[in-house]
Amino acid sequence: MNAIDKGLTLWFTGLSGSGKSTLATYLAPKLKELGKKVEILDGDEVRENLSKGLGFSKEDRDTNIRRIGFVANMLARNGVVAITAAISPYKDVRNEARSKAQAAFVEVYVECPIDVLEDRDTKGLYKKAKAGIIKNFTGISDPYEAPENPEVTVDTSKETIEQSADKILAYLRKRGLVPDAAPARR
Ligand code: ADX
Repeated sequence: MNAIDKGLTLWFTGLSGSGKSTLATYLAPKLKELGKKVEILDGDEVRENLSKGLGFSKEDRDTNIRRIGFVANMLARNGVVAITAAISPYKDVRNEARSKAQAAFVEVYVECPIDVLEDRDTKGLYKKAKAGIIKNFTGISDPYEAPENPEVTVDTSKETIEQSADKILAYLRKRGLVPDAAPARR
């Protein structure tokens, strides 16, 4: 199959505020320029729609992640680059999504030290979590299991968004999942 037609799941995992959504939004038009079809399954958006009503217990998070994996797989097997951007804190459920994938599955660890996230605190949630106003907050009072063998790791405290995106694109090119250059206009 031609690199332009190959679907895949691009699974971002990382703490809240690490840059998953920002990176997904930055990457999507770049992939489209290369001729790929792209959809983003963003954590916050999924929770507004597909997973409305779910909370942050392990059970609810697992349900949320299984739903995201299910939809991402449907898209990916039909030639879409399905980018998921949810914390997805539990290794087992991420691996379950990987094992069910019928197209390529590329896990991207969006890393960022917790002290940097607490400083950034774009949504003001870390402050609330530390004060105990929000319970079970990932990285503060709830677990985050970092991936052991992600296909790509980016560190948003050290890299620019462009550098992180380039790393991901370079990996996808190496795997033959995206074309090297934009297709000639018809
Ligand atoms: S996941 O654990 O199920 O993958 P998801 O990515 O959908 O999480 O949602 C995370 C977002 O919900 C965070 O970025 C934050 O805005 C918000 N949120 C609210 N409560 C929590 C919490 N207890 N832990 C983590 N994120 C929370």
